[in-house]
Amino acid sequence: MKSFAALYALVALLPALASAQSAEWGQCGGIDWTGSTSCVAGSTCTKLNDYYSQCIPGTAAPPSSSNTPPPTSQPGSPTSAPTSAPTSAPTSAPSASNPFVGVTPYLSPYYANEVQQAAAAISDATLKAKAASVANIPTFTWFDTVSKVADLGTYLADAQSIQNSTGQKQVVQIVVYDLPDRDCAAKASNGEFSIANNGQANYYNYIDQLVAQIKKFPDVRVIAVIEPDSLANLVTNLNVQKCANAQTTYLTCVNYALKQLASVGVYQYMDAGHAGWLGWPANLTPAAQLFAQVFKDAGSSPFIKGLATNVANYNALSAASPDPITQGNANYDEIHYINALAPVLQQQGFPATFIVDQGRSGQQNLRQQWGDWCNIKNAGFGTRPTTNTGSQFIDSIVWVKPGGECDGTSNSSSPRFDSTCALSDADQPAPEAGTWFQEYFQTLVSRANPPL
Ligand code: BGC
Repeated sequence: MKSFAALYALVALLPALASAQSAEWGQCGGIDWTGSTSCVAGSTCTKLNDYYSQCIPGTAAPPSSSNTPPPTSQPGSPTSAPTSAPTSAPTSAPSASNPFVGVTPYLSPYYANEVQQAAAAISDATLKAKAASVANIPTFTWFDTVSKVADLGTYLADAQSIQNSTGQKQVVQIVVYDLPDRDCAAKASNGEFSIANNGQANYYNYIDQLVAQIKKFPDVRVIAVIEPDSLANLVTNLNVQKCANAQTTYLTCVNYALKQLASVGVYQYMDAGHAGWLGWPANLTPAAQLFAQVFKDAGSSPFIKGLATNVANYNALSAASPDPITQGNANYDEIHYINALAPVLQQQGFPATFIVDQGRSGQQNLRQQWGDWCNIKNAGFGTRPTTNTGSQFIDSIVWVKPGGECDGTSNSSSPRFDSTCALSDADQPAPEAGTWFQEYFQTLVSRANPPL
């Protein structure tokens, strides 16, 4: 989403581990893998999918490629086989599977309604038709206030009935976004809860309400992005007083969210900023350490699949050439960032896979600075959501930020005015974060790449 004070390369990346045997959590096989296929003592080479085998600690026999029953303590949702099964075992333990495979994304009625109204307001017939088609592209639904949580029950009930009538397993894609003292290093998305005013208890209640809705529909899959910007802010922005104050509460609240949501079978991806934030060499290892620690503190649940990158940001997954604003960072796009981060996470005991937001990444080389994140002018809708990612580490390309919803107001008298939203590369005038920005949406539509 945002990035702040990009650090330059102060620390070299860890040298590649060249060894005859793969390390614990290292790769040991898969299509196109040319490295070692054996593991160091104490770990077993385990096939996770056709593209990836990994050295899992322990000497237990790896799961066979036929059905491996999930642990009995796991809830119903992930144990039900996807309706169109992938080639390898669809019911194997969650860590071995891609939760986006074999399921049909449920289309957010909230976003569809915004898009339909926006299309209705367009007079040009061609643009109108293109705009209306965006309602059919799966986009995450943000639960950015506790008052919206009841809607989740409605969506899940709807998804359940679609599932019953079509036989297609549905997945509801949500963003969990209501931390107390939210958006601690910026202003545009400051939230409804404050730490000083019962924020942690309010947050627990918010999570409990989400869980209560999800529990009622154990057969509908839920995939969640957890708290955009929060942990990334703890990696680079502890010099900001509000972030330093929030550190313990963020960690406690994220831990609560991860555990409670895992207990009802929600597949989760923690937000991990983007290439221009945690992708700087000096930030990679501290970031991996933090994410791995948070993963372990939450019980290393297989439902904590990994990390979401580029949420609400504008980076390419794979840039044709580095944007000049990337200023020599070897990780100049999301694929380079992910390829650099994944092995460090594995060394730290977190076998993470990724999802990457490409919703507004269709046009590149638009920004004055890599850290600019607010309503970037001339952006276009990007690559459509797909599990055909071309990367062993990436479960799916996704649309997390609902394109057309604003990043932040350009009104300098608003309490949530952030000066980033008044920079020369920010589209103005812009309404409050999360509210509809019609002119911006129309530009996203007309500049979509691939075209709509
Ligand atoms: C806003 C949220 C909104 C989200 C998705 C954030 O920037 O603060 O209110 O739900 O974007 O548009």
